Amino acid sequence: MTPLSATTSCPDLFRQLRREWGNVAWVELEPGVGAWLVMGYQELLTITRQEKLYSRDARNWRLFQEGVVPPDSGLGPMMFWRPNVVGADGAEHRRLRRPLDDGVAAIDQRRMRRAVETMCRQLIDGFAERGSADLVGEYAAVIPMLAIADLFGLDTDQGHELLAALRALFGSAEDSQAGNRKFEEILGGILHARKQAAADDLTSRFLAHPDLRGDAEVLQSMVVMISAGQETTTTWIAQTLRLMLTDPRFAGRLRGGRLGVDDALDEVLWRDPPMTNMPARYALRDTELGGQRIARGDALILGLSAANSDPRVHNGDQTIELGNRAHLAWSAGPHVCPAPIPARLITRTAVETALHLLADLRLAVDAAELTPHPSPWTRCPASLPVHFSTALIGDRS
Ligand code: HEM
Repeated sequence: MTPLSATTSCPDLFRQLRREWGNVAWVELEPGVGAWLVMGYQELLTITRQEKLYSRDARNWRLFQEGVVPPDSGLGPMMFWRPNVVGADGAEHRRLRRPLDDGVAAIDQRRMRRAVETMCRQLIDGFAERGSADLVGEYAAVIPMLAIADLFGLDTDQGHELLAALRALFGSAEDSQAGNRKFEEILGGILHARKQAAADDLTSRFLAHPDLRGDAEVLQSMVVMISAGQETTTTWIAQTLRLMLTDPRFAGRLRGGRLGVDDALDEVLWRDPPMTNMPARYALRDTELGGQRIARGDALILGLSAANSDPRVHNGDQTIELGNRAHLAWSAGPHVCPAPIPARLITRTAVETALHLLADLRLAVDAAELTPHPSPWTRCPASLPVHFSTALIGDRS
């Protein structure tokens, strides 16, 4: 059985799976744990839109109920149920979702853009004199957290602390307890402060929202925004910079002005969506999808990258996609990403600022040496070592 993780390091595998299975393939999530990978564009719309048949609530996962997936499985952080918007269906989902949509709609985009640009410049200042950097570790992976922390009213230092805590949380077992405590301490601190005095930020909006019941739900909503936004936006920035550095056609079109930055970002969402695969829907009864018999309790993984290259919607020529935003990078249906606008704003600002400030930017290693960080879900480059000229830094405003 094909391991799902192989699809993130080898995109050609989707073609092979499609030949073998059609649009819905049986893959392995971890040894002994199978799931359906939904690779058809239409089939993906079906499972994301028909929530009465395909639930988002992982407690419906048969292999979990039967103990085949152990509670300490590595799949847990992405797949196990938690009491938040992600694991809810129907009316409960809508109640928990409204504060997110209202919060995102209230973001002052001009203010956010200025704040993100300042963060980008500060990060670049930190490595500019060296003439070299890892644009993933030192840039793409840092900006989203700082930007999201800022939305909640946290300052840059607290944003860095939050990132360190999150890394510890998902890092070694020793650090993870302390990371968790620090994470909760920082978010609990701003929650407490905004209860004393409201401010113009998302924390205060969540606290005042009539649909959120008590501090625990406010905190859950903050955590879900941070955890859903960090990796995804990091990957979007990193993939765009990687294409710039490795695909001369893409870089040439962008530098020559034939491709605007927003069009370039869309091209990345088509070619390499930040979430290659996304967990999951769970069949609430026996059914059929893409010619496969789906049993009640089966998990269905959203093959967002595969669906984008479904030959029924896409002829493989990336350049004709200008202006076409029908890709599935944000998924679809009630759980569609609530934050494409701030995500784009962060990514566009990060890419533009890097291109503006880092003159003569080039890869420091062979393109073939760039490998994705191992994950079944994303194809984020593990690092992006670059050289650039230090001469022009500071001359540009
Ligand atoms: C490149 C950036 C991003 C991409 C590609 C992305 C993509 C996605 C996808 C595919 C989903 C899953 C939809 C589903 O299960 O059907 C999702 C959900 C979500 N995203 Fe994003 N996202 C991005 C950035 C962000 C940011 C910056 C935030 C918050 C600041 C955010 C917050 C969320 C939340 C809260 C959900 C869960 C929504 C729900 O279950 O109703 N995302 N996103």
